[in-house]
Amino acid sequence: MINGEQLVPAPIRWAMVGGGRGSQIGYIHRSAALRDQVFQLVAGAFDIDPVRGRDFGVNLGVAPQRCYPDYATMFAQEAQRPDGIQAVSVATPNGTHYAICKAALEAGLHVVCEKPLCFTTAEAEELQALARRQHKVVGVTYGYAGHQLIEQAREMIAHGELGDIRIVQMQFAHGFHSAAVEADNPATRWRVDPKFAGPSYVLGDVGTHPLYLSEVMLPELKIRRLMCSRQSFVKSRAPLEDNAFTIMEYDSGAVGYVWSSAVNAGSMHGQKIRVIGSKASIEWWDERPNQMTFEVQGEPVRILERGMGYLHPAARHDDRIGGGHPEGLFEAWSNLYYRYAQAMVASDRGDNAALQALRYPGIEAGVEGVRWVENCVRSADAGAVWVDYV
Ligand SMILES: NC(=O)c1ccc[n+]([C@@H]2O[C@H](COP(=O)([O-])OP(=O)(O)OC[C@H]3O[C@@H](n4cnc5c(N)ncnc54)[C@H](O)[C@@H]3O)[C@@H](O)[C@H]2O)c1
Repeated sequence: MINGEQLVPAPIRWAMVGGGRGSQIGYIHRSAALRDQVFQLVAGAFDIDPVRGRDFGVNLGVAPQRCYPDYATMFAQEAQRPDGIQAVSVATPNGTHYAICKAALEAGLHVVCEKPLCFTTAEAEELQALARRQHKVVGVTYGYAGHQLIEQAREMIAHGELGDIRIVQMQFAHGFHSAAVEADNPATRWRVDPKFAGPSYVLGDVGTHPLYLSEVMLPELKIRRLMCSRQSFVKSRAPLEDNAFTIMEYDSGAVGYVWSSAVNAGSMHGQKIRVIGSKASIEWWDERPNQMTFEVQGEPVRILERGMGYLHPAARHDDRIGGGHPEGLFEAWSNLYYRYAQAMVASDRGDNAALQALRYPGIEAGVEGVRWVENCVRSADAGAVWVDYV
């Protein structure tokens, strides 16, 4: 159970790039990192606008001289301080991730980066090699992966409770961008511009989330080939898609499917994963994250509740409040940041055993997400054809 006891010797001196005033994702990074006192926010280059970024940082309680106009200045000046930053989180638009992560790793910092990690598999693998050379942790924020019921699903599958896995059905299909909302909203505008968003919109923005959940639940599953069809229902978004269907075949003979969409009109979030085995199925939906459906063929449906004693120990490990009270996205993120902190300490100590024992979306998850998007785009742009997964 997590109860606020610190699992690191001292809070890690931490900074942010991006996540400034009005950003969508900045607050949850801070809330997650600071909740269990495993990180301490001491510096930042919070905004593309240096004046606004400084003002914002000061309001967060960061010393004015440590609110920097840009990340390069921050990395250089913090390196001169005996109490300089040890880790940085990157919460900027996609097109900046590669350069900022590279500079951070070169500056000897641990990194937590937003998804998608970068634009190409080649870039992602370069960052992976750099992180290895520098002995640094890179976390990638597939946030719901920190939810207890994801661990429960993994354990149930590993213990054979579903039988042989046949089908993985995934979706992240919301309706918030059913119309051209980007006309009035800068935070949406960059998402549909290839210069800032990369080679895809919804595949990278939302599809990679349930894909990573499947990687946690089914670590042995390897994609053999896939076929993707993508559409721009709001025409001005072309060549980027606002809807995509991807069918996958795995080495094991199982098959999978991901629906990625921002035009599922009326849907709030629509992130779901259903794993179907020869004996039973489980289903988890992020809008009802405290319940997971367990359906055994021929038996009444069971609803497994988060926080209950009948869950596997790995699922109870990160419990904060027990059953009944809900835990959701914020707790899942906090659990991830808790693990990132422990990973950073283990890495600094050279304690590989401790590092390997921690499960969190790291650089491998970042590389895999980028690889999947690249394969999907290759298939879609060749006319929705089957392509071998490379
Ligand atoms: N993990 C998740 O669930 C999740 C959810 C939403 C967004 N995201 C990801 O988070 C990232 C940011 O998304 P957002 O919705 O918060 O974007 P946003 O447009 O709302 O905010 C971006 C922030 O970054 C700042 N910024 C931009 N360029 C900068 C630079 N070079 N240096 C410093 N600051 C800079 C902006 O001023 C702003 O404060 C994206 O990569 C997005 O895909 C992830």
